[in-house]
Amino acid sequence: MPQAVIPTPGSELAAWWADAVVYQIYPRSFSDANGDGLGDLRGVTERLDYLKRLGVDAVWLSPFYRSPQADAGYDVADYRAVDPIFGTLQDFDAMLEQAHGLGLKVIVDLVPNHTSDEHAWFQEALASPPGSPARERYIFRPGKDQEPGSGDGLLPPNNWQSIFGGPAWTRTTEPDGTPGEWYLHLFDTKQPDLNWDNPEVHEEMESVLRFWLDRGVDGFRVDVAHGLVKEEGLPDWAGAAAMVEGQQAGHHESGDAPGAHTDAEEPHRAPTPDAPASPYLDQDGVHEIYREWHQVLAEYDGDRMMVAEAWVEPAERLARYIRKDEMQQAFNFDFLLAGWDAARMAVAIEDSLVSAATVGASSTWVLSNHDTVRHASRFGLKDPTTFPKGIGKEDEQPDQQLGLTRARAATLVSLALPGSAYVYQGEELGLPEHTTLPDTARQDPSFFRTLGAERGRDGCRVPLPWRSDAPGYGFSSAQQSAAPWLPQPPSFGELAADLQDGVESSTLELYRSALDLRRRYSLGSGSFSWADAHDPGNGVLAFQNRDVLVMANMGTVPVAVPEGYAVLLSSIYDVGNLASVPTDSAVYLVATGTGA
Ligand code: BGC
Repeated sequence: MPQAVIPTPGSELAAWWADAVVYQIYPRSFSDANGDGLGDLRGVTERLDYLKRLGVDAVWLSPFYRSPQADAGYDVADYRAVDPIFGTLQDFDAMLEQAHGLGLKVIVDLVPNHTSDEHAWFQEALASPPGSPARERYIFRPGKDQEPGSGDGLLPPNNWQSIFGGPAWTRTTEPDGTPGEWYLHLFDTKQPDLNWDNPEVHEEMESVLRFWLDRGVDGFRVDVAHGLVKEEGLPDWAGAAAMVEGQQAGHHESGDAPGAHTDAEEPHRAPTPDAPASPYLDQDGVHEIYREWHQVLAEYDGDRMMVAEAWVEPAERLARYIRKDEMQQAFNFDFLLAGWDAARMAVAIEDSLVSAATVGASSTWVLSNHDTVRHASRFGLKDPTTFPKGIGKEDEQPDQQLGLTRARAATLVSLALPGSAYVYQGEELGLPEHTTLPDTARQDPSFFRTLGAERGRDGCRVPLPWRSDAPGYGFSSAQQSAAPWLPQPPSFGELAADLQDGVESSTLELYRSALDLRRRYSLGSGSFSWADAHDPGNGVLAFQNRDVLVMANMGTVPVAVPEGYAVLLSSIYDVGNLASVPTDSAVYLVATGTGA
């Protein structure tokens, strides 16, 4: 008998996003139509059929707006324009139309915490005097020691550190050439933070929302959703925020307990007696903004949605972002951070379902994205619960085979949970992180700002392999093409999409099968209860969703398949009648007699 049912309120939600599978496209690395070595919007359009066939419901595109690309487009110079490296607005419209024609929804990225320093507003601010309305759109302050008549402003206004490393403040030069005020940037120097205490900022971002809603987008992924509002007075803070909560800096030092955190990694947490809350993350004031945006989206038809990128803990705190009058979804990073560990994964699953239920929202499940080491590589590390900030050739190299075996199993878990699932481009091919990228190829600002201590995120952003026998593994569909903007590792050749297409044991076909079963058994809008076989202490995760019993074995010994069940899908075998679930694998089972 299955144990108590855990509420899955998402099943009552009729909106498309409640159980959607969303495929994240990182445009510069997805598909290159014009042959310049960088992906583009026409490249996306060319591959929509592939995504339809994969079986996803929606795509989310990382930024393609006009940008100097100091942070791969997360530094927006014009929110209403497509950067020429990605194409034109017409290319966007054509892509959107074709996606909609195929029944795919389209989510775009909104970057409201900061602009590029090349945004017209920031340029105007630099050219305007301290205290001017143009400066009030950002967070300019005099230096700490810049008292009238004394001090020279050499010290930044407070001790905040940039999430990419180094100070979070940069000093300006006034129009007359003298050293001037400082401005805040939680990320790179070229990403000045907007001042969300200023109504003009609210108006502008609302207008940006409308611009894309009017064009027909179905939703927004909201970047750094927990960072927009800063504590009044900008008080000093002894902590330092990491890009990804739970990441461990640099190399894999031995001796750390699995999942151990160092002092410098306590950023996004809710207040606890010994870890004061960050003055710039998860401030209560952010929710007012999302209530405003909720109203804007509600004016449009078609269940437009927002998904929060908020590295916030605990799960109850994250649930505040998805209250009925705020956003519709938030990425469930606890699940991503659980690693290959049944006990941690079980806690993340239950916490997420329970906390989402308190606000009547559905959960999301995500294993990888453009900011994290790909899960096929993380799970191949000695400690498969660690989160390195990138991997370089001097670091521990993952066991690729083991990582991929576990990644395939984790995917079966993720795609069978009730709620919405996010798939990061290339994971359906089983792509590993590029762990031996030469430093000369790296582009992530976090690599440079930490002087290489953090390897950065380039390794998960390598252009996709579409054809094993083509230059650049077919990343470009053009006759003549430049080399892909980041070099691909040789292993990408064997994992190219064309080699996996139609091959039953391939990762691509595993994803297709899992997505097909997810749809046939309505798992996204399903139910959830831990099954009798659930034994996280021994590495076994087992749950029932509608007619499907899901078992994943993260332990060390094979686990018997309960009597009376047949295998629908296995992460390591074709459909067959297994007697047991081997270590590092997962299965979908169905009671004999109820199979489809
Ligand atoms: C994005 C990153 C980006 C950062 C600054 C993050 O949340 O996912 O890729 O570097 O925001 O915009």
